[in-house]
Amino acid sequence: MKATARAHTNIALIKYWGKRDEQLFLPMNNSISITLDRFYTTTSVSFREDLSADVFVLDGKEMGGHEREKISGFLNLVRRTANHQGYAVVDSLNEVPTAAGFASSASGFAALAAASTRALNFTISNEGLSILARQGSGSASRSIYGGYAEWHKGTCQDGSDSFATQILPENAWDLSVLSVMVEARQKKVLSREGMRRTVETSPFYAGWLDSLEIDLSAARDAIHKQDFEQLGTVLERNALKMHATTFGANPPFLYWTGATIDVMQVVQELRENGVLAYFTIDAGPNVKVICQPADEQVVKDRLLELECVQDIFLCHPGPGIHYLTT
Ligand code: ADP
Ligand code: DP6
Repeated sequence: MKATARAHTNIALIKYWGKRDEQLFLPMNNSISITLDRFYTTTSVSFREDLSADVFVLDGKEMGGHEREKISGFLNLVRRTANHQGYAVVDSLNEVPTAAGFASSASGFAALAAASTRALNFTISNEGLSILARQGSGSASRSIYGGYAEWHKGTCQDGSDSFATQILPENAWDLSVLSVMVEARQKKVLSREGMRRTVETSPFYAGWLDSLEIDLSAARDAIHKQDFEQLGTVLERNALKMHATTFGANPPFLYWTGATIDVMQVVQELRENGVLAYFTIDAGPNVKVICQPADEQVVKDRLLELECVQDIFLCHPGPGIHYLTT
């Protein structure tokens, strides 16, 4: 009873920021993402009779404490869904920096959802997988699909209509995503805590929610039309709005460092010089710069001139979940 699955990370163009149900990972708003080719997780799950507890090995190291409990909690959900009793060994390899704002939790839980259900021979649709992955980490719901995806917040209390669907497959529209590393350390306010604090305390959170429908429909429309300028304009605006909510939280917090702002300014300067490039930032200081493939070298070269830039990982739209033979 073993299976191996691979899932790629995704970067949100319209952000998921805030939960209406923390237990079920139900979001306050829809979100839209691109799945990335360069960063992924490969996870093997093996259900075995001889185990008295679940085992979680991440990048060759056996994990204990909270990390193992998170995996075990997720496997409990899979066991309930697939009506199975018995423990498993989860062996996972991250081809992405862990907990550094590169969305390892998205690829991690999407791969775990796929490998664990396949190991139990449990037949499940992509939407079902998305619902399952969501309950490990919200953004994982989008990593089931390649290319461009939208996670629908849903309205049901049990979360049965809160799943992602694909907007466009990965080969339909090529864009370049430059993941600009300015800081390799782990973030201080995890996204889970950060979104909770802004929902509970930020007076700006209502403004975030009020303007989301406009951003979502502009982004959807831009993806369908493959209109890069429209998409870039809305994704940058949406990222800045998300971060603005954290300034109003109590206590307030800021994910950016000086280096983050340096990168943002270079992107705006590139635009002033006629190169269409836009930035987005998640719950950490690193920046993702999005441009068209014809401009990726110019953008990369300019960013590398900044002393604060430690590394740049060039990504393109990547595939959805797939299974590997073991
Ligand atoms: P990131 O920006 O990398 O997503 P988070 O702090 O949001 O950072 O998520 C990191 C957490 O995701 C880890 O602490 C771990 O619980 C989970 N995670 C990371 N990689 C995996 C994996 N391969 N399998 C399962 N869970 C993972
Ligand atoms: C800023 O999916 O990591 O990256 O559901 O609590 O695990 P949990 O949060 P997570 O949050 C992602 C927040 C974000 C925006 C996004 O990816 O949409």
